[in-house]
Amino acid sequence: MNTDGRHAIEVEHLTVSYHSKPALLDISVKIEKDLLVGVIGPNGAGKSTFIKAILGFVKPDIGNVLINGKNAQKAKGEVAYVPQRGAVDWDFPITVEEVALMGRYQKIPWYTNPKKRDHDAALEALEMVRMQDFANRQIGELSGGQQQRVFMARALAQGSKILLLDEPFAGVDAATERAILDVLERAKQSGKTLVVVHHDLSTAAEYFDQLILIKQRMFAYGPPHTVLNEELLSQVYEGRLRIFSDLLKKEGEKA
Ligand SMILES: Nc1ncnc2c1ncn2[C@@H]1O[C@H](COP(=O)(O)OP(=O)(O)OP(=O)(O)O)[C@@H](O)[C@H]1O
Ligand SMILES: [Mg+2]
Repeated sequence: MNTDGRHAIEVEHLTVSYHSKPALLDISVKIEKDLLVGVIGPNGAGKSTFIKAILGFVKPDIGNVLINGKNAQKAKGEVAYVPQRGAVDWDFPITVEEVALMGRYQKIPWYTNPKKRDHDAALEALEMVRMQDFANRQIGELSGGQQQRVFMARALAQGSKILLLDEPFAGVDAATERAILDVLERAKQSGKTLVVVHHDLSTAAEYFDQLILIKQRMFAYGPPHTVLNEELLSQVYEGRLRIFSDLLKKEGEKA
């Protein structure tokens, strides 16, 4: 695949299967740098698989992924990841600061311990998500929204230009949602590209510069007003479209 250097992530003809059943089919998309991009689609659409394929966690049947113009192997460490909350074992005995410090491990040679600069980066990331006061607490003792913010700190501490987040707003209250969005926006302003799985269509247009609409295939990619249109959403969400009619009206009034 040829790269032009303008894109943070380039995906070409990506097909991923589990037990010979395709979860993603022939997805091609190029994501420009410095954008906040939402990935939307119903449950089971392949959103998490899309993120995992970009990270190289799942092997594609066909297709390529380039990160900053490089293949996944060469781009190790250039992408940070915040997993979907259900995928994390919260009983693991580890403090908040240690979780943030995990973001530095790729940068710490195996024969040394974390240095001051690693601890500083971890604390700075905790400050960014406003969890610095919890640094010595066990991760398992925190609320869901607080745990989510600590995992964002781990990704920020890594210092990568690209951040992939799988449903960071799931199960958090409105205030935490605002706080997380604020962190995402500040990360974007500091020159990061963020790809965020999101399931709430009512906030998708407000939160993101671009949206990727997926259900096994990619149905659309572009600015929210082009993606959130009735025909596309009815194809992807089928009978459940009626709940979106108000949203579409709202979008129509804005356009
Ligand atoms: N490890 C796995 N082994 C087998 N099948 C899987 C695995 N992970 C995902 N799948 C299947 O692949 C499809 C896509 O799953 P994926 O988790 O990517 O969807 P999603 O859009 O993230 O869904 P959700 O909104 O529920 O998080 C689903 O049909 C799912 O059952
Ligand atoms: Mg998912």
